[in-house]
Amino acid sequence: MIDISAEISGIHFNSCIYNASGPLDATLDELNNIGYSNACGILMKSCTILPREGNPEPRYKDIDGGSINSMGLPNMGYKYYLDIIPSLMKFNKPVIASIAGQNLDEYKQMIEAFNSSKVDILEINLSCPNIVGKPQIGYDFEMSEEIIKMCREVSKKPWGLKLPPYFDFVHFEQMASILNGSKPDFIVCINSIGNALFIDWEKEQVVIKPKGGFGGLGGKYIKPTALANVRKFYELLNKNIKIIGVGGIYTGVDAFEFILSGASLLQLGTSFAQEGPKVFQRVSEELKSVMIQKGYQNLQDFKGKLKVID
Ligand code: DHB
Repeated sequence: MIDISAEISGIHFNSCIYNASGPLDATLDELNNIGYSNACGILMKSCTILPREGNPEPRYKDIDGGSINSMGLPNMGYKYYLDIIPSLMKFNKPVIASIAGQNLDEYKQMIEAFNSSKVDILEINLSCPNIVGKPQIGYDFEMSEEIIKMCREVSKKPWGLKLPPYFDFVHFEQMASILNGSKPDFIVCINSIGNALFIDWEKEQVVIKPKGGFGGLGGKYIKPTALANVRKFYELLNKNIKIIGVGGIYTGVDAFEFILSGASLLQLGTSFAQEGPKVFQRVSEELKSVMIQKGYQNLQDFKGKLKVID
């Protein structure tokens, strides 16, 4: 019997594959679809204090091999997500809130509110690239540290951080040292690669409207960067901080590579947006087939065991 179950701080997941925060997870109807699917958890859209309409459309575009988006955090406001948690509990899988404050006080206010809910886990998003005029917090190490220390003090739920991609070993080391100090239960690597540009050469035009066409890159383009982030943090972090891998996972082989690099769980973003809820079962079955071929029975058999060339 092949076992792809996983666990975060005592919370059991009956597989290791669920949705990334972002696509198709902003309303109760959409979240119910994730509940009825084979996703092992239900992760909600990043929420803010007040509801937001988000950026003008078109703001998401599928591209061969990926996607570009500049959604601008359209969401129903955190109170809506608090209210629907009881209804999502019927699926008997972990329900995870994603929190996107504009400053420390907003993060704190939302964490406190979710503390007194039945939500299982908190994902603190430090990496939205699409708010006009706001840099990504995850690239400001001082502000990140302040927020992460506050999370450690305030959160009564298992909590983790959604991080932007890093590209320089010095930055990995700076962030890892903050994380090893504040001990989140997990990190999620990576958010979309911010501020990419696609061009429709025939129209001589950008493909999304906000920010002059610049938006977060997802899908196959970002898998090597996502693997590098998972691997580098796996090397640098204390082993009790779990890593959740996301970025360009479309197949069981992709999933296998992320776990080999050190991921404990996996999220599907662009592949879920493109294929819909049946993607969770397909990728889970494909991962099990790879494990059978390799003679592995559970994720521990190969997690983090990526070989280097001496
Ligand atoms: C949005 C995009 C992100 O990558 C993110 O982490 C949060 C929000 C958005 O544009 O809605």
